[in-house]
This record gives sequence, structure tokens and C-alpha cells, in this order.
Amino acid sequence: MSSISENVHDRISRLPDEIIAQILTLMPTKYAVRTSVLSKRWRYTWVLVKNLDFDDIHPIHGEEILTEFVDRVLKLCKTSRLNLFRLHFSKIRVKNSSVSSWINEAVKLNVNELDIQVINLGLPFSMFTCKTLTSLRLYGDADVRYDWEFPCRVNLPCLKTLDVAVYSDPCVGAFKLISGCPILENISLKVILRPKDDDDYLFNIPTLKRLNVTWPNDPYTINKVVLNVPNLEYLFVGGVLCSKFVMEDVSSLVEASVSIHRIRNCHVWVELFKGLSGVKSLSVQNLSSLIDFKTSVSFNWPVFPSMKHLALNGRWLSRPILRFLESCPVLKHLCIERVVQPFPEEDSCVVPVPACILTNLTIINISICNGTKPEMEFLEYMLGNAKVLKLVTITWENLCVEKERQLCEKLAELPRASRFFEISFHGASGARVAKVATWSLTDRSK
Ligand SMILES: *[C@@H]1O[C@H](CO)[C@@H](O)[C@H](O)[C@H]1NC(C)=O
Ligand SMILES: *[C@@H]1O[C@H](CO)[C@@H](O)[C@H](O)[C@H]1NC(C)=O
Ligand SMILES: *[C@@H]1O[C@H](CO)[C@@H](O)[C@H](O)[C@H]1NC(C)=O
Ligand SMILES: *[C@@H]1O[C@H](CO)[C@@H](O)[C@H](O)[C@H]1NC(C)=O
Repeated sequence: MSSISENVHDRISRLPDEIIAQILTLMPTKYAVRTSVLSKRWRYTWVLVKNLDFDDIHPIHGEEILTEFVDRVLKLCKTSRLNLFRLHFSKIRVKNSSVSSWINEAVKLNVNELDIQVINLGLPFSMFTCKTLTSLRLYGDADVRYDWEFPCRVNLPCLKTLDVAVYSDPCVGAFKLISGCPILENISLKVILRPKDDDDYLFNIPTLKRLNVTWPNDPYTINKVVLNVPNLEYLFVGGVLCSKFVMEDVSSLVEASVSIHRIRNCHVWVELFKGLSGVKSLSVQNLSSLIDFKTSVSFNWPVFPSMKHLALNGRWLSRPILRFLESCPVLKHLCIERVVQPFPEEDSCVVPVPACILTNLTIINISICNGTKPEMEFLEYMLGNAKVLKLVTITWENLCVEKERQLCEKLAELPRASRFFEISFHGASGARVAKVATWSLTDRSK
């Protein structure tokens, strides 16, 4: 070792144990433990770490050595309160009994946050009555069917965040867990496998603020999700929509995001949006790829009387966007990712402009892929009608600089309804400068 690095090394070695433990807490456990080879002084410093974070990103040693390593670290660890115990083993299949006994050790170290993603999930009874647990994440492998075994009573008095994947019957799994958590604020439920005769999901949780329910696979049956969650502020629904949402009390809901890649039937879709009609902010993914053009145009959106912010992600057709906007009378801010179909010919003059475009819409964010006809036509429509528009942000994607310049010029020539607004252009690809130019188009029409 050179004298300079010895010097630095010495200075680090003279730091108090608690500070070194804090530094070590910031690194994955295998590096923290490795510091013990640096010098005698360092040998047992790591045992005070507050985070134990194990992964198998580089699975060179195999199951036996990994197991022994985790066993030894846990045996030597002397911390009185473990902030985090994380196991992310996606390549090496560790025994469920090992996983279970490690979690048990973490519980003895008064763990706050458990984040377990392993192939064979094993849970000790002690976890279900852990008094210090504030956050719990449990993911097993989808192919390993696993029914949780519970002690007689779940009691997690400090748990605020629960993020679980459910592989079989959630009524004896997640919901039994939920019922033992009196101050739960944040739930993420990923329903991977649902039995055929699945019961309804009843969320009666007065403390809940955020809920994320996702069905990645199609369960073939429709059940009911009943939400009696008076303090819920944010709802995310994703995957295959196969549940009828019954909103008994969602009176605090301000924001919702719907990212569905398949619908079991149109009725559940309509019901879901009816239940969301009170939100201020809504994001909807890919409607156009879910239902055909005719259905999406005739689709009866409920009125969203308070909605100020709408994000339409994925690919959308022009006409369904306008249909949607008709239901959002006070919309101020519209974000659109991709417009993929021009207005039908017969449409152009007959259909009245949605009221929000005339009176409320002040900000538009839109991505332009190739400057295609639908994209430019949509912009022309918006600029020509939005009377109180203040800012349009355009993100270019896949365009060469020359094409961008041409499109900018074209846009500058379009008729505009608003007396003053700004257009801001951004390049999308990381290689290019992020912001191409900011143009201020002062009133040239009069
Ligand atoms: C581990 O898995 C086996 C077979 O799936 C099961 O019988 C056993 O109860 C599990 N052990 C724990 C600790 O979860
Ligand atoms: C809610 O839980 C999710 C998943 O664990 C997490 O990503 C998110 O940060 C949590 N949000 C809050 C407000 O605690
Ligand atoms: C909801 O959960 C799914 C699956 O667990 C995840 O992919 C998604 O990012 C989550 N969404 C939010 C907004 O937290
Ligand atoms: C949205 O639709 C596009 C094309 O139809 C598809 O490639 C994409 O995966 C969809 N996104 C989601 C989240 O379903």
C-alpha cells in the first residue's frame, strides 16, 4: 500500500465505531463484511451495521456458501435495532427453512423493514407478531405455490407499508395479514394466482392512504373489490381488469392511475371510472389498444367535476381523447404520450370543441414521435382552440435535428387561439442536449 493510501486508511480507522457503522450501513453487506480484512481495527466494526442487504446478483458461489455467509453474518451481528433486512435472491434457490430462520433472526434484532424476494419463501411465526416492523415486502417465485401458515393471531402494531405478491387464496393470506395491522397506510397487492371460486376483496381500512392492486395474469372469473377506505388518497389499478370495483367510501381520493392491459368486460371498466369520478388527477394507460375505435368513441365517461390534471399514457386515438375531455369540464393540465390516429374526416367541423379546451386548459405536454399526420393534426386542433393556453411542452422522439427544425417552423405558423403562450421543445434521446430551444410566440395574430 502506498503511503498516501495508508494515511487515508489511518484517518478512517481513527473514526469512532458508530460513524464507521453508519458508513458501512450504506453499502451492501458483502462489501461491509469485506472491510474486516482491511485491518484489525476494522475486523468487527461491521457488526454494528444497521442494514443487512444480501443479493445474488453475481451468483458465483452457489447455495451452500451463500447460506453459510448469511448464517454467519446474522450470528455475529450485534446491532440492537436493524433498520433493514433485505434478501434479493432471484438466481440461487435457497432453502425456505433458511429464509425462515434468517427472518427469525432479523426479528430478534428488532428489524424495521423486511424486504424479501426469494424463490422459496419461508416465513417464521415470529414475523407475524413482530412489534418493530414498519414495512414488509414479500415476493416468492410465481411457480412455487406457497400458502402462508399463520400463528393464531397476526399482530403487527407498527406496520405502515405492506407490499406482497399473492399466489393463492388471498382471503387466508394477505387479508389475514392486513387484519392484524392497525395502522396500515400503504398496500401494494400483486395477485399472481387467484383460485377459481375467489371471494370478494373487502378493504375496510380506515388508516389506508395508498393502495396498489395489480393482476398480472387473467384469473378467468370476475370478483368484487369493495373499497371502504375513507382516508385513501391514491389508487393504482393495473394488469388484467377482472374485478368489479365497489367504492363504498373513497371520499379522500385525489389521485388515481389505471394501467390496464386487458379488460374482462366493458362493464367493470365503466364501473371503475364511475368510482373514480371525484379525483383531481387521473392517469390512464392505453385505452385505444384495449377497446376498438367504435366502442371508445361511444364510450360514456362519467363526468369528472374536479379533475384538473389528466395524463393519457401509451397510444391514444384523437377522437377518444376529445370524448374523454368532454367529461372533464375544469381540466387545466393535459399530458399525452402518443397520438396515433387522425380525426375521422366527417368529424372535423360537426363535433363541438370540449368546454375545458375553450375555458380552462392552460398546459399541454405532448410527445412527438415522427411528426406524423395524427400528431400534427392534434396539435393544430389544440392550438387553434385552446383560448387560455399558457404553455405547451413538446418532447421530440426519434427525430433528427433538421426534422425538428422543420416541425418547429411549421408549428410557429399554425393559427393560435390563445393570445400569448410559450412552446418549449425537448429532445428525448439521452445522447442529445435535453432542451433544444424555448420559443416564446408572442401574439402575431393581431
Ligand atoms: C418449506 O417448503 C416445504 C415444501 O414446500 C414445506 O413442507 C415446509 O413447511 C416449508 N418450510 C417452511 C419453514 O416454510
Ligand atoms: C408505499 O409502498 C411502496 C411499495 O413498497 C413504496 O414504493 C412507496 O414508497 C410507499 N409509499 C409511501 C408513501 O410510503
Ligand atoms: C403497483 O404494483 C405493481 C406490481 O407490484 C408495480 O409494477 C407498479 O409499479 C406499482 N405502481 C405504483 C404506482 O406503485
Ligand atoms: C400499450 O399499447 C402498446 C401498443 O398497442 C403496447 O405495445 C404496450 O405494451 C401497451 N402498454 C401497456 C402498459 O399495456
